[in-house]
Amino acid sequence: MQLRWSHTAILVRDMNEMVDFYTKVLGFDVTDRGQFPAPGAEDSEIVFLSQVDTDHHQFAFVDRLRDENPPNSVHHFAFRVNSLDDVKIMDARLAEDGRVESRLPLTHGNAWSIYFNDPEGNGIEIFCDSPWHVQQPQGTIWDKDMPNDQILDETRKGFESNPAFGPIEGYYQTRTKELKDR
Ligand SMILES: [Fe+2]
Repeated sequence: MQLRWSHTAILVRDMNEMVDFYTKVLGFDVTDRGQFPAPGAEDSEIVFLSQVDTDHHQFAFVDRLRDENPPNSVHHFAFRVNSLDDVKIMDARLAEDGRVESRLPLTHGNAWSIYFNDPEGNGIEIFCDSPWHVQQPQGTIWDKDMPNDQILDETRKGFESNPAFGPIEGYYQTRTKELKDR
């Protein structure tokens, strides 16, 4: 199994300034934005940015850097693996190792993820893609103990009413075209 770099989520202080800089100067597109649905964080916004046709986002900015002297501004680093089995294997490896206190299984509809903190508290996400594109942000718990076909079924049922729901290939084809045309 390989962990392949996908994206970084960071906490930002001035969302407008950051999005303006990353889009106008560095050439990113905003691929989605919305209220971050984490409990107790109703007023936080998340903005997703990408300039490739292989990842929905390379950066996620979370509007939550309210402390003047934050210990760090990184929310999490994310790595992609090839399959749901790989996510489950990694989860089992973490459980067996025992140093990680809690592992949060979250699905964004377009992926199945495990979130955890490394021994020094850094946020890490390990995920595999689902077959679908879903408008973001989204997040619900998925059951790691279910068989894979049942997980697929449950996730599809949970997200198929999403207005942007569709095959992931279609989403990336559209992105390829958008990036070529600009
Ligand atoms: Fe992430």
